[in-house]
Amino acid sequence: MSEVKVALVTGAASGIGRASAVALASAGFIIAINYRSKRPEAMALLEELPGDGHQLFCADVADAAQAGKLVADVLDVYQRLDVLVNAAGQFTPQDVKSDDYDEWQNAWQHSLQLNLLAPVNLAFHAAKPMMQQGSGKIINITSRGAFRGEPTAPAYGAAKSGLNSATQSLALALGGHGICVYAIAPGWTETPAASPRIRDQGWDDVAAQSPLGRIGRPSEIGNLVAFLAGSETDYLTGAIIDANGASYLRN
Ligand SMILES: NC(=O)c1ccc[n+]([C@@H]2O[C@H](COP(=O)([O-])OP(=O)(O)OC[C@H]3O[C@@H](n4cnc5c(N)ncnc54)[C@H](OP(=O)(O)O)[C@@H]3O)[C@@H](O)[C@H]2O)c1
Repeated sequence: MSEVKVALVTGAASGIGRASAVALASAGFIIAINYRSKRPEAMALLEELPGDGHQLFCADVADAAQAGKLVADVLDVYQRLDVLVNAAGQFTPQDVKSDDYDEWQNAWQHSLQLNLLAPVNLAFHAAKPMMQQGSGKIINITSRGAFRGEPTAPAYGAAKSGLNSATQSLALALGGHGICVYAIAPGWTETPAASPRIRDQGWDDVAAQSPLGRIGRPSEIGNLVAFLAGSETDYLTGAIIDANGASYLRN
């Protein structure tokens, strides 16, 4: 890259966010590392990343005010923002058959706030400097569950489905300003959040959901994020990219 570019990665202390930060830093980006509670992990990432200029930014992105302040803090430090990676997210289990109404309401509110509203709020704020720059990339991590349904987490599935739709809408709205917007829809990926659930379901059974016969690795999603963040993909926008070993095509 001729000019050093800045990427804000949410949920960067672990899993897919962490792998995205590593891949982007390896490609020459400066990383604004967002974390919420995992400060030791975020500090370890900061030490590990290649290149200079990376910094930690603590924020709960599900809080609309903190999401706005996060982007403002990144701009204060770097005076530019080239890439936003919305990786922070959480799978909240639900059971429509046995949850009480409060549990049902709370899960919907939490899931929509974190998995849908946080990314679009961050995109709202990130789009302002990107429009001034005349370029930018917004990369939303959604899920295979947006297509297949999530019977044990309907709010999560609906939020990710909504984020796929928002990706397409924002790509159309912002394309005239040189901003590309993408969604990556992973399937099962070996992260700290997913691995216990994969073990519960049976590692081999989960691997068999893909014709490739294995589970995705965080680095495979991170490398895809870095590819989309680069200039080779400037004509690709509004795309929802399946990164789930074709498992969404199978039962
Ligand atoms: N792994 C999979 O199989 C899979 C499959 C499909 C989609 N995804 C999606 O991929 C993304 C990353 O998931 P992952 O598996 O890598 O999970 P992970 O290892 O738990 O990483 C998620 C990160 O998001 C952070 N986070 C959660 N709530 C936050 C908030 N309000 N503000 C800021 N950060 C917050 C978490 O930190 P704290 O704990 O400190 O909050 C954590 O570091 C999620 O959007 C997930 O839905 C994952």
